[in-house]
Amino acid sequence: MELRVLPGPADVTRAGADLIADAVRHRPDLVIAWPTGRTPVPLYEELETRVARGDLDFSRLRGFNLDELVAPNDDPRNFRTFMAQYAWWRAGRAAGRFEIPDGAADPEREQARYEAAIAAAGGLDLCLLGIGTDGHVAYNMPGKAELAVHVTALPDSVAEELKEPVERRPIRAVTMGLGTLRAARRVVLFATGASKVEALRHLASGPEDDRWPCTYLTKHPELVVLCDRAASPDGP
Ligand code: PGA
Repeated sequence: MELRVLPGPADVTRAGADLIADAVRHRPDLVIAWPTGRTPVPLYEELETRVARGDLDFSRLRGFNLDELVAPNDDPRNFRTFMAQYAWWRAGRAAGRFEIPDGAADPEREQARYEAAIAAAGGLDLCLLGIGTDGHVAYNMPGKAELAVHVTALPDSVAEELKEPVERRPIRAVTMGLGTLRAARRVVLFATGASKVEALRHLASGPEDDRWPCTYLTKHPELVVLCDRAASPDGP
C-alpha cells in the first residue's frame, strides 16, 4: 500500500484529481468505479472545474458506481440523484457512459446484471473509494465478507446517515463486493478527518478480517491511500 499523507482535505482533493487526470490522459476510455458520500464531493467539484476549463476530457470515460440504494429511481436519497447533482460530468454531459445499479429493479436480478456489465466492460481499471469509520468499503459492511456484487441490508448507523425513517429500516443496497473492488487494477482510497484513523490502521496493517472489510484490500498490489494528517494511521 502506498500511503500519501497530505496536510489537509484540500490537498487530498487536489492529489486525487491530479491522479485521475493523469490516468485519463494516459487512457481516455478508462473504466472507473465511483463512490458517493461526503468525502468525494469536493473531488467531484474539482473534476467538474477541470472538465469545464477543458483541462480534462471525460467524453470517452466509462464508469460504474460502487453501490445504490434499493429504492425507486426518483427517490431523492438515492445515489443516482447524488451523481446527477455532483458528477456524471455535468459539463461533459457524458451520462450514457456511467452506470449505476438500478435500485428500482428486482435486487437479485440486478446484482447479476451489474456484475455482468462490469465484466463486459473489461473490469475496473481504477476504483475510487471512501471508507467508513467502521472500515466498510462500498457497502461491504462489517461481519460478512461477500466477494461478488450483492444485495446487503444496511445497519441503523448507515440508515441514520441517509436520514432514513425508522419504519423503513433496515434498508438495502446493491453493492460491489470485496472481490469486485479487489479485482480493480488500481484502487485509490480517500480519507479525511480523525474519525477515519482506526479504519486506516486496519487497512494499513491487516490481517484480512471480516470485522474490518477494508482489510480485504490490504494486500492489493496497486493500492494508494490519500489521506489528510488528521486521518493518518501513523498519527497527525
Ligand atoms: P463519507 O463515507 O465519505 O461520507 O465519510 C464514506 C463511506 O461510507 O464510504
